[in-house]
Amino acid sequence: MDTQKLADEVETRRTFAIISHPDAGKTTITEQLLLFGGVVREAGTVKARKTGNFAKSDWMEIEQKRGISVTSSVMQFDYAGKRINILDTPGHEDFSEDTYRTLMAVDSAVMVIDSAKGIEPQTKKLFQICKMRGIPIFTFMNKLDRDGRDPMDLIDQLEEVLGIEAYPMNWPIGMGKTLTGIYDRFNHRVEKYNHADDSTLVELDDDDNPINDSELAEDPQFKETRDSVELLEMAGNDFDQEKIAKGDQTPVFFGSALVNFGVKTFFDAYLKFAPAPGEHKTQEDTVVAPTAEQFSGFVFKIQANMNPNHRDRIAFVRICSGEFEKGMDVNLARTDKKIRLSNVTEFMANTRENVQTAVAGDIIGLYDTGNFQIGDTIFTGKPKINFEKLPQFTPELFVRVAAKNVMKQKSFHKGIQQLVQEGAVQLYTSYSTNDYILGAVGQLQFEVFQFRMQNEYNSEITMEPMGKKTARWIDPDQLDERMSSSRNLLVKDRNGDPLFLFENQFALRWFEDKYPDVKLTAKL
Ligand code: G4P
Repeated sequence: MDTQKLADEVETRRTFAIISHPDAGKTTITEQLLLFGGVVREAGTVKARKTGNFAKSDWMEIEQKRGISVTSSVMQFDYAGKRINILDTPGHEDFSEDTYRTLMAVDSAVMVIDSAKGIEPQTKKLFQICKMRGIPIFTFMNKLDRDGRDPMDLIDQLEEVLGIEAYPMNWPIGMGKTLTGIYDRFNHRVEKYNHADDSTLVELDDDDNPINDSELAEDPQFKETRDSVELLEMAGNDFDQEKIAKGDQTPVFFGSALVNFGVKTFFDAYLKFAPAPGEHKTQEDTVVAPTAEQFSGFVFKIQANMNPNHRDRIAFVRICSGEFEKGMDVNLARTDKKIRLSNVTEFMANTRENVQTAVAGDIIGLYDTGNFQIGDTIFTGKPKINFEKLPQFTPELFVRVAAKNVMKQKSFHKGIQQLVQEGAVQLYTSYSTNDYILGAVGQLQFEVFQFRMQNEYNSEITMEPMGKKTARWIDPDQLDERMSSSRNLLVKDRNGDPLFLFENQFALRWFEDKYPDVKLTAKL
């Protein structure tokens, strides 16, 4: 591919994740987007899959026909001249480092908020990760077909709770049973809600009066909305593309995913302002441009046994520059080894017209036999590239883990090693007893781990809860094993680095008072 063609291809990519608190409507909105992209034909397909109401065979058939795994963590499709990559971030049940790391692989985020509930804890956590990366965040206030909070309160909440400037792109006319439409500030028109899966567009004149719609002109709710919009024009924030690009301002869209109202308007505006893939920083203090000829990418997620019939592992790679070609040889920066990328999954919906090229912004899945680790950089040519380290999120919950059947140590160790490599749980070993200790961000990780050990490795395990701990690493040169007590368990992490698991903040402070010269660090 020549340089211009590569630049043109990259320009069409929009790679994002949808962040939300469970039940805000992420699945429903994803489904609408897939419908727009022609990936699924009927509403309810993804939802049925999620709730298990879908016959597996039907589902497999869809996957085969469309050549896309809608259930998988990456969904790619073409829409309005753009190639869309949606990266799934598992909701609260699967909440893990995986979720955080996926946000390292996107260029923007869509934040879905239930307009009756406002900002919920999970939204806040995920928002903070996006904010840390400085990526653009677009907000969809969902469930407008139901009574929700006052729109002005919702906007205030964004500014006060999340500390981000909000710019409402549209404003509801009524809500719940009285929902008549949305006033689309951006396109200067009204989108009327027809209680069916469509809407009518009414253009507005220069004085904001509906053209050719006397009913709307007389609607008291419309008048109220117009007053609110006037207020926004006078006292609200100015639309600022630069701020949006840095994640300092979020464009806000009201709508309802369930009745597909306002979703298309949102998506069209989103595609207009969401960025194409950008540069990535390296540990060598350089930046890699997406249009660079040199192919490069990093592993942000590893998933084992996606298909339990085959013992496969897939390393998900976000391409940062250049073009991927099947069978290409790449360098693995960590080991300096050469690896041929011959067994690869792309996540494109298989519409035959599309030539399948993967360029910066796209995600590829590499079948892995143990070569890759999370955070690995792969690249071709020169110079050597090591992308910036992915952040580590300190686990807060810990369990002691052992094989139930001492005769089955082999499968126990194999399972632990492989599942730990996926990164959802962290493995520690106690200094004094060599016990295995697992740490995770959420409780469910442990349950999933236990289930998978049993199902995939035939290893029954026992887990003894240790509760919440505060993990702090210590410089090995400063370590004296006598520093360990019943309130601060000394363990080693996977790299052999020592750390203490403190019972609570009090125990940590007590330690810091006792050893003022010792430097403790929390990895984040
Ligand atoms: P999630 O992936 O963020 O967890 O949310 P999901 O899309 O599964 O939606 C959670 C619930 O909210 C679902 O209802 C869904 O139908 C409903 N929902 C999503 N968007 C809207 C909306 O715009 N308006 C209204 N009124 N409801 C919405 P449920 O009762 O859990 O499931 P179901 O009975 O619909 O199957």
